[in-house]
Amino acid sequence: MDWKVQFFKLNYGEEELQAVVDTIESGWITMGQRTIDFEAAFSAYLGEGYRGVAVSSGTAALHIGVIACDIHPGDEVIVPALTFVADLNVVRAVGGIPVLADIKSLTDWSMDPKDIEAKITKNTKAVLIVHYAGYACDMEAISEITGKHNLKLIEDCAHAPGADYKGKKLGTSGEISAWSFFTNKNISVGEGGMVATSDPELYERCRYLRSHGMTVATLDRIKGRAETYDVVEPGFNYRIDEMRAALGIVQLKKLEEANKRREEITRRYFANLQDMDGVILPFKDFERGLPNYHIMPILLREEIDRGKVIQNMKEAGIQTSIHYPAIQSFKAYRELVKPTPKAQYVSEHELTLPLYPTMTDNEVDLVCTTLQHALISTS
Ligand SMILES: Cc1ncc(COP(=O)(O)O)c(C=O)c1O
Repeated sequence: MDWKVQFFKLNYGEEELQAVVDTIESGWITMGQRTIDFEAAFSAYLGEGYRGVAVSSGTAALHIGVIACDIHPGDEVIVPALTFVADLNVVRAVGGIPVLADIKSLTDWSMDPKDIEAKITKNTKAVLIVHYAGYACDMEAISEITGKHNLKLIEDCAHAPGADYKGKKLGTSGEISAWSFFTNKNISVGEGGMVATSDPELYERCRYLRSHGMTVATLDRIKGRAETYDVVEPGFNYRIDEMRAALGIVQLKKLEEANKRREEITRRYFANLQDMDGVILPFKDFERGLPNYHIMPILLREEIDRGKVIQNMKEAGIQTSIHYPAIQSFKAYRELVKPTPKAQYVSEHELTLPLYPTMTDNEVDLVCTTLQHALISTS
């Protein structure tokens, strides 16, 4: 399908092309110096004391994160009700029990600290939060709860590169943060991720878990710096490769500027949509820090048929998405999770509009006028 406005477009140029060509020409494409450099740059971005372990996806980062935080079979982990299903899948993968916490309100879709606290039982071991769309959760309140109840805090920062909570970088409040560099993320490498921490022991454990629990890196083995190795704990092959690490280095350099353009686009959307009948704008008056405007979610009023709006927009050449279907609607979780009414409501009425740094003002305006026509013709 030829879209007039795609949901997402890569913010790639000559630098990304050159980075991949240079990597291939170097003759070394599995984890090596570029990965080390990407990790160093990302650690510097997070700040003093933080270290990142680059991995093959955000899900791999989350999986390593829950293992490193010692989540065992039967442990409960409080997770967002409005999130990508990976947050629950990784808890299930280690035998844990995901317990959903609802969002705050229909205009602030962050996890509700009050509901987090209400869901704590004697079996709760950790709270896994997501900074939805790059808007910070209420970190003061959440950190106070995890501190008071002695719970681990894992931050799903898939949406968070470049964003902060009142000046403090997202991903620096808990034990572990997990980042995704999937195609449409603010740092985009195709498939990739990072797990980061300021705790030296957790860092070591994450490094082992990334590569089969082995005590030496591939580079050391191949370059002859290590003849043999030990396996300290069963791990995985969650390694990133050098092409993606090279892309990550370039994308991280472009992050601040790209996020500024995302902000301009979001503000234009807000201005265009604020008086549009049938549309509610979440996070419009957000005050908990600097967002990174990862996606452009809107809420359609209850009486509007979202399916028809999506279809109408598709026919007019505008690609949209949904973030996210209700966890309760998935077969694997239907029986397992309890109702979270506000998140379920958002799941049924949310629509995500196109947003990417190279989007033009005209494209934003076209999406908005198309949405207006779609709303009129479906009401
Ligand atoms: C909120 C959230 N968590 C986790 C993930 C998983 O990341 P990945 O697709 O890199 O495995 C994603 C990405 O799609 C996400 O949006």
